[in-house]
Amino acid sequence: MLDRFNRNINYLRISVTDRCNLRCRYCMPEEGVKLISHNDILTYDEIVAFTRVAVADGINKVRITGGEPLVRKGVTELVRMLSEISGITDLSMSTNGILLTEYARGLADAGLMRVNISLDTLDPVKYSYVTRGGDLQAVLNGIGAAQEAGLRPVKINCVIKSTPDGEDARNVAEYCMREGLEVRFIRQMDLASGTFSVVHGGSGGDCARCNRLRLTPEGMLRPCLFSDMGFSIRELGAKEALRRALEAKPKRGIANHVNGFYNIGG
Ligand code: 5AD
Ligand code: SF4
Repeated sequence: MLDRFNRNINYLRISVTDRCNLRCRYCMPEEGVKLISHNDILTYDEIVAFTRVAVADGINKVRITGGEPLVRKGVTELVRMLSEISGITDLSMSTNGILLTEYARGLADAGLMRVNISLDTLDPVKYSYVTRGGDLQAVLNGIGAAQEAGLRPVKINCVIKSTPDGEDARNVAEYCMREGLEVRFIRQMDLASGTFSVVHGGSGGDCARCNRLRLTPEGMLRPCLFSDMGFSIRELGAKEALRRALEAKPKRGIANHVNGFYNIGG
C-alpha cells in the first residue's frame, strides 16, 4: 500500500488492551485510566478478520502491543490465529516482560517470531520506582525465557529522558551487549504536546520513512501516532477503514489528544 507521500505502508501495530500490570510514570497516571469496557474491545475474531484484509492490501509486518498484551486473556490464541495468515513475514510483540517467564514458550509455539521488552534500568529500586511496583527480576527472568524459547532477536526498549549516556542507559546497553540483546533507546515522548524524535536503533519517529498503521483495542485504525485521526473498523468495515487511513496519513505527526501510550502502544 502506497500512501499519498509514496511511503510503503506494510506495518500494522495492534493494541489488544488498554490494561497493564505496571503503572510506568511516563505512561500511566498512578490511579490508572478509565478503562475501555469489555464490550467495546475488539474480539480476536474481529482482529484476525481485519488483519486478513490488511495483509491482502500489503501489510506483512504485524506487532501485538497494549497496554500490556500478556494481560489480555488468551493472547497466545490470537498469536496462533495471526500466525496462520499467510503473508505475514514478521510477527512480533511488545511487552513489559513481567509475565514472559510463563508465556514465552507457548507464544513461540503459537508462531510468535520475536519480542521487544521494555527495560529502562537495571537498578531494582529504580525499576520499581519508575514502574510503580514492578519486579525487575521478573523481567530479567522473562528475557531469559524469551531467549530460551527461541524468540529472536530479543530487543530491549529503553526509554530515556534525553540522551543515552546516563548511567541507567549505559548499564542497560552493557547488559544487552553481554546477553546478546539488541537495544533501542526511545526518547520519552509526550503525545499531547507532540514531543517526539527518531528512535536510536529503531524505525520509529521518522515521519518520512513511516510505514505504520495502528489498530486500537476498540477498533479505531489510526494512521499516525501523533494525530487524532482514526477510522472505526466496526463502522466502516476493514476495506474502507484501510482506504481512509491510507488516504489520511499525514506527511508528519503533530500531536495526539485522544490516546495515551497505554492504549496505543507507542
Ligand atoms: N515516551 C516514549 N515511549 C513510551 N512508552 C510508553 N510511554 C512512553 C513515553 N512517554 C513506550 C515504552 C514502552 C511501551 C509500552 O511504550 O517503550 O516500552
Ligand atoms: Fe504498562 Fe508499558 Fe505503560 Fe509501563 S509503559 S505502564 S509497562 S504499557
